[in-house]
Amino acid sequence: MKAIEIRNKYLKFFEEHGHKVIPSAPLIPINDPSVLFTTAGMQQLVPYLLGEKHPEGNKLTDYQKCLRTNDIDEVGDNRHLTYFEMLGNWSLGAYFKEESIKMSFEFLTKVLNIPVEKISVTCFAGNDEAPKDEEAAKYWEEAGIPKERIYFLKDNWWIAGEEGPCGPDTEMFYDTGKPKCSEGCNPDCDCGKYVEIWNNVFMKYFKHKDGSLTELKQHNVDTGLGLERMTMLLQGKETPFETELFAPIMDKLEELQKVDNIQSRRIVAEHLRASMMVIADGGRPSNIDRGYILRRLIRRMTRHLNKLQIDLKETENLIDLNVENLKEMYPELEENKETIKQVIIEEQNKFVKTLAHGEKEFMKAANKAKAEGKDVIDTETVFKLYDTYGFPPEVTEELAKENDIKVDMEGFNKLFKEHQEKSRQGSEHKFKGGLAEQNEQTIAYHTATHLLHAALRQVLGDHVKQSGSNITTERLRFDFTHPQKMTKEEIQQVEDLVNEKIKEDLPVTCEEMSYEDAKKSGAIGLFTNKYGDRVKVYTIGDFSKEICGGPHVKHTGELGTFKIKKEESSSSGVRRIKAVLIK
Ligand code: SER
Repeated sequence: MKAIEIRNKYLKFFEEHGHKVIPSAPLIPINDPSVLFTTAGMQQLVPYLLGEKHPEGNKLTDYQKCLRTNDIDEVGDNRHLTYFEMLGNWSLGAYFKEESIKMSFEFLTKVLNIPVEKISVTCFAGNDEAPKDEEAAKYWEEAGIPKERIYFLKDNWWIAGEEGPCGPDTEMFYDTGKPKCSEGCNPDCDCGKYVEIWNNVFMKYFKHKDGSLTELKQHNVDTGLGLERMTMLLQGKETPFETELFAPIMDKLEELQKVDNIQSRRIVAEHLRASMMVIADGGRPSNIDRGYILRRLIRRMTRHLNKLQIDLKETENLIDLNVENLKEMYPELEENKETIKQVIIEEQNKFVKTLAHGEKEFMKAANKAKAEGKDVIDTETVFKLYDTYGFPPEVTEELAKENDIKVDMEGFNKLFKEHQEKSRQGSEHKFKGGLAEQNEQTIAYHTATHLLHAALRQVLGDHVKQSGSNITTERLRFDFTHPQKMTKEEIQQVEDLVNEKIKEDLPVTCEEMSYEDAKKSGAIGLFTNKYGDRVKVYTIGDFSKEICGGPHVKHTGELGTFKIKKEESSSSGVRRIKAVLIK
């Protein structure tokens, strides 16, 4: 069965079981720059897992485009991917363990026709905070999984980051038929006998910053099934690279390569697909955050094309081939084909120059060391080559060999670890912030953002469109299209207008309607076609009307005094405002 058939069967199955199909959120989360990328299906649903009403109802299903970059350096082995698709179904307080397990079992055995003997499951073993999940085990047994293939594990608990909705999970495993690696071999073992295929999280709790757990108002189910992995297993393949998702590009690379290297081919195939998906969803390379990840993906891919001795001019053909291969699943690749080509090729050209600069820098340091009578190049230079010039350490090592000098890899690794630790902390912080930080302040800033948006349009004109928004507990940041710097007077007018609307203590109301009706009603929709059929529209008095997931304050009077702290350029044709609320 092809990946797209599995996806379609999944959505159809859950639709037949009363779920509404919602669109995948973009890889770059809407209105939430505090998270790097979408990493799980539940991410766009956090407010609804916490009790907001979802306009499409309380049973949902979708396919979700995901990018996880923690293991980026592992890509090249036989299983790691950065980009993947997660199929999911959700109960927002509708059904819980029994129905969820029944449906999963039915889908696996009746729709995908996986023999029951091939399925093992794990349930939560319990700890001080939450009990052993005997209930889930009971439903598995009732469904038809014998006791000896139901395992209890301590790790069966799922949360995104450190704070947020969470709960025990039950995981389903596919037995590849390989022999047990030892007597005690079970789904917890990563010898390759058991492969995890699906995870159902029973989101009953909320974990707070201080580590404490409280029960949520509603008991949710959040599930995730990795499409690439399922495709590989159902096709009896050893790696996802042998499925139709990657095979055409892998074959092409093999045909073009002058040096054989399967890891490099996998890295090129994987990173090319991931970069294309990120660019199609609006990502662009840069030196920070998301942009930096995209830059790394493109550069790493380029380096491995070099390793395979494939002319970089082939990149365009490889992109064409991938678009052809994947456009049925992702029409956005075809729609954005020219942009994708432009962005990737430009980034490659930059990288080629960087490599040339880096080599010069290297030669300088090497000559200096030699002049000083040393046979090893200083670690700072090696790190600088990595950090500033994007030189992977092995490239520096190769250069060193060619120039008869050594590299202190131990020193480099130490600096590298420190650096990694810093960026890891950074990204964890980001993930957490985006998902769970929904408190009084951020909600107030969210409403203030709507007022600001409306005020800007009134003062500057209807050409003003939101192009980004970022909210922390301390401030809001709003990016919008406007060709020139705002004058002092304009800034003052906008600030006054927002404060006037706060003083009027306007009611903030929410209505659900179809996307078409929302547009007709004059609501500003920020991300056309990224919404589902039914949307929520937030109205503030007669001043503002926006399609938005919420939540918001009930009355503008709750906001305090609005103050614009900064107006600056964000990028060409886009201005950025930072503003605070003073209570
Ligand atoms: N959120 C869970 C996961 O990512 C289930 O969807 O595995």
